[in-house]
Amino acid sequence: MNWNPSFAGLTCFSCDTPHDREVLQTVCTKCGMPLRADFQLQRGALRREALAVRPRSLWRYAEVLPVPAAEAVTLAEGLTPLVQAEDAVWVKDEARNPTGSFKARGMTMAVTVARKLGAKALCAPSAGNAAGALAAYGAAAKLPVVVAMPDDTPRHFVEEGKLYGAEVKLGPGTIADAGKWLKANGPKDAFDVSTLKEPYRVEGKKTMAYELWEQFDGELPDTILYPTGGGTGLVGMWKAFGELQTLGLIGAARPRLAIRETRGTAVAIPEAEIEAQTPALARRTGLDICPEGGAVWAALLRLRAEGFLRRGERVVLFNTGTGLKYR
Ligand SMILES: Cc1ncc(COP(=O)(O)O)c(C=O)c1O
Repeated sequence: MNWNPSFAGLTCFSCDTPHDREVLQTVCTKCGMPLRADFQLQRGALRREALAVRPRSLWRYAEVLPVPAAEAVTLAEGLTPLVQAEDAVWVKDEARNPTGSFKARGMTMAVTVARKLGAKALCAPSAGNAAGALAAYGAAAKLPVVVAMPDDTPRHFVEEGKLYGAEVKLGPGTIADAGKWLKANGPKDAFDVSTLKEPYRVEGKKTMAYELWEQFDGELPDTILYPTGGGTGLVGMWKAFGELQTLGLIGAARPRLAIRETRGTAVAIPEAEIEAQTPALARRTGLDICPEGGAVWAALLRLRAEGFLRRGERVVLFNTGTGLKYR
């Protein structure tokens, strides 16, 4: 397996136990917590000017990715635009990714490494975008895919998985029940790429932070509003900020995001507010906004009203996917 020279290996996020990167790894064999990909990074190792000639995808950040672009199972994911919504507020439009969501970022990385390490098939539970993304990257990698989904999943998500040739199993309950079903009844030879159950989806998602750094000309916004679910996007960006600091590209200051270390916060948005604010942001910007994107717009309005956000601070809202699959 060709790894990028800076990729140093896998370590448990929680108990620091090292794990062999040459075999397919899931979670820590000692404590069951997620594994982290470590990089040996020096100041000056990544330069913004060097990126000009790199691939127009997230694979451009070779110094901080485990595998070189030449080995990637890629559909040209990442490098999504920042669109201004109003003064000092931008939308990072992840709807432009393959299969219409930021899930493509994690799947390109996880599927690339899984294929390289000999996976014969792939599986995951999903209640939405991850199913289509895994199915598409499985198709690109020529690996069979099984996804288990709750039976009330909107039909576009189900059809999308099938379109790319995945086997889609529907069952009662939530995504957690789908995960249990997969464990008990899924194909035994399929490698499970569930959120935070393998180390590489985070590595794909962390590129959202590298893109912000590149798009803000080597700076970062003051606050990032991100619709979290499984948490890989947040964990990934938080990891990337640490790496950017080690590379000497940012200082100790962080955009407000992950909750304790960056003085961030969490806001729960009721369904009715999501329904109202999704079209509101679409009409304001002309962007294809998903309900999760509507939720962050609603969060911005609330956080402004509460005084958490100050006028003039630079805010990035993540529209994590296309709205079309929900209709
Ligand atoms: C559109 C959309 N936004 C956000 C999320 C949450 O992502 P994360 O796992 O990074 O928290 C998901 C899926 O879980 C999603 O499909």
